[in-house]
Amino acid sequence: MLIHSASQLLTLAGGPQRGRELGQLGIIPKGAVLIRNGIIEAVGKSDELRAAYPDEPDFDALDRVVMPGFVDPHTHVIWAGDRAAEFEMKLQGKTYLEILAAGGGILSTVRATRSASLNSLLDQTRLRLWTMFEHGTTTAEAKTGYGLKTAVELRLLQALIALDREGPVELAFTFLGAHAIAPEYKDQPDQYTELICETMLPMLKEWWPNHAPQSPLPFVDVFCENGAFNLEQSRRILSTAKELGFPLKIHADEFGNLGGVPLAVELGAVSADHLVLTSDEDIRLLGQSDTVAVALPCTPFGLAEKDYTPARKILDAGGILAIATDLNPGTAWCGNMQFAIALACRYMGLTPAQAIAAATINAAAAIQRADRIGSIEVGKQGDLIILDVDDYRHLGYRFGTNLVKAVIKKGRLYPV
Ligand code: NIG
Ligand code: FE
Repeated sequence: MLIHSASQLLTLAGGPQRGRELGQLGIIPKGAVLIRNGIIEAVGKSDELRAAYPDEPDFDALDRVVMPGFVDPHTHVIWAGDRAAEFEMKLQGKTYLEILAAGGGILSTVRATRSASLNSLLDQTRLRLWTMFEHGTTTAEAKTGYGLKTAVELRLLQALIALDREGPVELAFTFLGAHAIAPEYKDQPDQYTELICETMLPMLKEWWPNHAPQSPLPFVDVFCENGAFNLEQSRRILSTAKELGFPLKIHADEFGNLGGVPLAVELGAVSADHLVLTSDEDIRLLGQSDTVAVALPCTPFGLAEKDYTPARKILDAGGILAIATDLNPGTAWCGNMQFAIALACRYMGLTPAQAIAAATINAAAAIQRADRIGSIEVGKQGDLIILDVDDYRHLGYRFGTNLVKAVIKKGRLYPV
């Protein structure tokens, strides 16, 4: 299929964008892209490509923006239960960590998720993934973390593997058994840490190749936070995971700075996420590393907090910045990357071009897929979106409505 007559074809060519380089969109005016068998075969000017491939079925973008599908590199998309009442409690003055300490928050979702059947988890999560897809997300990372028991965590992975096969959203998997201290271990966080290290991770390593033979090992992530896992416990979990060969991620500096960033850099984590209270010294470390800094602006927005990730400082330090939604029932029920971009422009000081690069090629780097997705380049997967605007700056500028007109996943067109 030849998609032609884009007002602006945003290629994002050239790989992940570090520091102040962020925001190179590689725009081709009157651009076109040829996709065959799901893979991009040619990129260029519409008149040239139409002349070169006269017999190709064509799709007229009608002078609208065509760009890579969004990559959402941090979601907790699989859960059961409802926390609308908690939202109300937060508005009345309770904090997120107070609700968690009182057995609510993540633990309330854990109770509901544990008692949900595989089919009901599949049904609920499938709907969320379709909504994300309609808003332009063609690949997403998806974390477990509402099981906190070996069997349930594996059930969540099993569901995610099935949903990835089903499509249309492609998934990158993350094991987040270290999302909260399991209720059975309420006063023994070290024992739960030990269970993760001695039982869950080795079991997962054996289980994985039999259940997802085509996929590399999932990421292992830790919520390094007051009320969740302290630095020592986080170090133990991530070092064990690293020894077993898992790639690493960390939730760091969301509500407190416990030292998660130096740990991530030391262990060579693929990404460090949240980064709201990250110190200047930690930003310097991050900027000199290959660990991708993933900002989640829907989270402070969702909690009505005023501090956002200091993105400009991260860019000045040379860091690789990505953005994600953090879709979850507690802090950010939003799987819309367009809204994350709108927030990043307002509260993190990014330009639309910077936010777009952070939501595509750099987001792909945050899940180790920048070689396959995140840009429109020959040899890459045909994952594209067509926006109902003719200038890319409308992304970020406009909010609250869906600007996506059509989504193309591996060369297959889905009108929205
Ligand atoms: O990223 N920080 C930990 N996890 C989520 C919240 C999960 C929940 O509250 O259910 C987050 O904000
Ligand atoms: Fe998260």
